[in-house]
Amino acid sequence: MQQLKPESRIWITGAGSGIGKALVERLAAEGHQLVITARTSASLEDLAQLSEERILAAPADVTQLSELQEVAKKVEEHLGGLDMVILNAGTCEYLDDGQVDAALVRRVMETNFMGLVNTLEVAQPLLKNSAHPYLVAISSAAAYSPLPRAEAYGASKAAVSYFMESLRVDLAAKGVGVSVVYPGFVKTPLTDRNDFPMPMRISAEQAAADIVAGLKKGQPEIRVPRLFVAMLRRLGRLPFFIRTRLTQRMVR
Ligand SMILES: NC(=O)c1ccc[n+]([C@@H]2O[C@H](COP(=O)([O-])OP(=O)(O)OC[C@H]3O[C@@H](n4cnc5c(N)ncnc54)[C@H](OP(=O)(O)O)[C@@H]3O)[C@@H](O)[C@H]2O)c1
Repeated sequence: MQQLKPESRIWITGAGSGIGKALVERLAAEGHQLVITARTSASLEDLAQLSEERILAAPADVTQLSELQEVAKKVEEHLGGLDMVILNAGTCEYLDDGQVDAALVRRVMETNFMGLVNTLEVAQPLLKNSAHPYLVAISSAAAYSPLPRAEAYGASKAAVSYFMESLRVDLAAKGVGVSVVYPGFVKTPLTDRNDFPMPMRISAEQAAADIVAGLKKGQPEIRVPRLFVAMLRRLGRLPFFIRTRLTQRMVR
């Protein structure tokens, strides 16, 4: 098990808005050294203004391995390595009426799953010299229970969770910590696009505070907000016919 230690060197993807941005604000205020990545450089440059000596803007598309390798070079140059990677970059698109759209599914999987895998491949060598190497993936409460319209998004996040859980087992002997974060609804540009009710939605700042608190304790699974995510987790564990009945009621 690892824990977030003071003055860690942290790479955060998807740092330009929402949960990633709120994590940057909190972690920078606590004195960590941050490398922040997203595709839109302007949002990263704005955030880097918070602290020029603590935040390095390093734009990249997580679906492009070569762009991530450029970020790795910057990390080597500026920080000499990393202690933590927060794999947060993500997107969400829903299917309509159960109509499968392979291009949509590919887009979501490419960013949410392959983007995470690409980042891990590039980041792993950078963690080699850390005294407390720690990988953190932002999954979703949707990974706990199949939900309507979430075929692509839920599958991508279930893949993220499985991958990270598996990696935890393989890396435990090497002392690399792994935490998986399960957010429920958090108010961000991603959920502002949703046109359905989002019970117990919390602010990105609250989500970041809860995530950081979980990382300081080294919790392997971090659920935010706890009650709503616990409810979805329970739903996912109900016998199949009860779960299906309940989730069918959510279909519009
Ligand atoms: N909000 C929620 O309720 C909720 C719930 C469960 C899980 N999550 C997960 O939390 C994470 C953050 O989501 P959020 O709600 O904070 O969304 P958001 O505000 O839309 O932020 C997503 C971030 O990811 C970046 N990004 C997207 N595609 C990228 C790519 N190909 N390469 C690099 N960066 C990319 C975006 O910047 P650019 O567009 O500039 O690249 C942005 O900085 C996601 O993994 C999401 O699935 C969110």
